Amino acid sequence: MEVIVCDSAAEASRMAAGRVNAAVRENPRLVLGLATGSTPLALYKEMAAACAAGLPYRGVTTFNLDEYIGLPPDHPQSYRRFMDENLFKQLDIDPARTFVPDGMAPDMEAYCAQYEAAIRDAGGIDIQILGIGSNGHIGFNEPPSPLDSRTRVVRLTEQTIRDNARFFADASEVPREAVSMGVGTILDARCCVLLGFGANKAEAVRQALRGEVSEMCPASALQRHADTVVFLDRAAAAGLG
Ligand code: PGA
Repeated sequence: MEVIVCDSAAEASRMAAGRVNAAVRENPRLVLGLATGSTPLALYKEMAAACAAGLPYRGVTTFNLDEYIGLPPDHPQSYRRFMDENLFKQLDIDPARTFVPDGMAPDMEAYCAQYEAAIRDAGGIDIQILGIGSNGHIGFNEPPSPLDSRTRVVRLTEQTIRDNARFFADASEVPREAVSMGVGTILDARCCVLLGFGANKAEAVRQALRGEVSEMCPASALQRHADTVVFLDRAAAAGLG
């Protein structure tokens, strides 16, 4: 694992964007795995700026990690809406090439198998962007998540519901379930880029990078991945010693 500690989240985001934009330049038909949350926002701004400056994203295909169950795509807190607002509208990307799991699919089991098949049919994910939860989750793979898990319905932990309540009127409105790529799905990406910013991520980052590989810290599975780069600010790296 390559670990890059930057003075600020802004600098780390610029460096991560440099890698993503270089990969798109090299392969205009890149397949990108994307994440939601506050962590990748600055990275997405940098990608949008590169596109505005002439880097075409129209051949790129994207697959998002996860979506809340029960929120329609146009719900203000749905991850589809988040991606449209914070990235896709700023790119020249073809909306038909942007995949976000459907939290309203009537047959979730069949839908999850379809999502996995869509990733395979696209040739697999070249670069997967990841944040990390304060409990060590990647996507909505909450502890304990089998390290070979695939796209499936997951129950959110109380900690994640509390962490995400800031986006809703109150914690009771946060959906209790989500559909998420599995840890195994994420490990299939050819390259993973994990971003971690802020003191509240320091313990999860320490466990993920220095702890045992364990389903109790799903991000620790990345220790087994051949090409993972981790971008941290100093606060998130504080536990690495
Ligand atoms: P955050 O969430 O970027 O909003 O901190 C990260 C995550 O839960 O994966």
